[in-house]
Order: sequence, then C-alpha cells, then structure tokens
Amino acid sequence: MKRFDQAEFRQALGKFATGITVVTTTGKNNTPLGVTVNSFTSVSLEPPLVLWCLDLNANCYDEFANCDSFAIHVLHKSQEATSRNFAENNGDKFADIDWKTGDSGSPVLQDCAVCLQCKTEQIYSGGDHSILLGRVEIIESFNDADPLIYHGGAYRFLQNK
Ligand SMILES: Cc1cc2nc3c(=O)[nH]c(=O)nc-3n(C[C@H](O)[C@H](O)[C@H](O)COP(=O)(O)O)c2cc1C
Repeated sequence: MKRFDQAEFRQALGKFATGITVVTTTGKNNTPLGVTVNSFTSVSLEPPLVLWCLDLNANCYDEFANCDSFAIHVLHKSQEATSRNFAENNGDKFADIDWKTGDSGSPVLQDCAVCLQCKTEQIYSGGDHSILLGRVEIIESFNDADPLIYHGGAYRFLQNK
C-alpha cells in the first residue's frame, strides 16, 4: 500500500543530489533534438553501459525511443542556462548552441564537461518513463570545471573542496 502522495515522493527524491546532463540525438529530417536529464546513471564498466530515463510525454519521446544512438553531455557549473534551454520546449533549442555532428551521428555540444556518444543498447519500460540503456563508444572531454548540481529542485554548486 502506498503511504505517501506524489508531492512527498518528489520531495524525497529531491534530497538526492545529482549532476545534470543534456542528451541529444538526430531526429527526422536530420533535426537535432536535446533534452535536459538528471536521471543519468552509470551501469557497467565492461561492457561500458550507462542509462537515463525519458518521460513518455516528452515531445521528443518517439524519436529517442527509435534512435540508434544518442550523446550524453555532463554540464559544468557555468551551464545553468544550457540546462534551462534544453528543459523548455519552445523554439529551436540549438539556435544559440555550438554543436557538431559526432561520429555516432548524434549532435555533440562543444561546451560541456564531457560527452559520451552511445549506441542504443536496450529500452525498458519504467512506469511513466522509459529507461534507455546505452553502450558508450566515444568519450570526449571538453572542460575540467566543477559540475552543475541539482538538489531540492534548485541548481547548486560544489563548496569546500
Ligand atoms: C534539472 C532537470 C532534470 C530533468 N531530468 C529529466 C529526466 O531525467 N528525464 C526526462 O524525461 N525529463 C527530465 N527533465 C524534463 C525535460 O528536460 C523537459 O521536460 C524537456 O522539455 C522534455 O523535452 P521536450 O522538449 O522534447 O518535451 C528534467 C528537467 C530539468 C530542469
């Protein structure tokens, strides 16, 4: 029996601090697609596997659910605006972004901490989200700055290092 409401559940999950990523892929007509994601998790070292979760209601859902590859970008501390940009669905998210098509075929943002280009390995259902498992094929490091953190529904930064 469930002994909590959705607000309590959200609040509990918000106690868990995460980094922030932007996941990209190439959609129909070569359109670049991207979404802000904090459900990113490492899974396996050998083979190199990672996962993230995508809301079934996202506009980009069908294209990610059918893509062969995607690229995961870990954001650094100066990229709050980039996180907000890819979390909103108004207009061209790539208009003010410096990006190139990576060898895997997915857009690679040129400003981020690190980019993991992945082949889609498997997609699992997970309630109102799907779980996308990716096999990492290419790693590109761009910036050693501290990470951008998300905690309690707010952007935060590392202290006391
Ligand atoms: C910090 C943060 C983390 C997010 N994490 C996720 C996530 O893990 N999975 C997801 O589906 N949406 C997540 N979102 C919401 C999506 O970024 C947002 O709904 C996006 O606009 C969906 O893409 P669309 O424009 O194609 O609908 C997150 C948003 C923020 C601000």
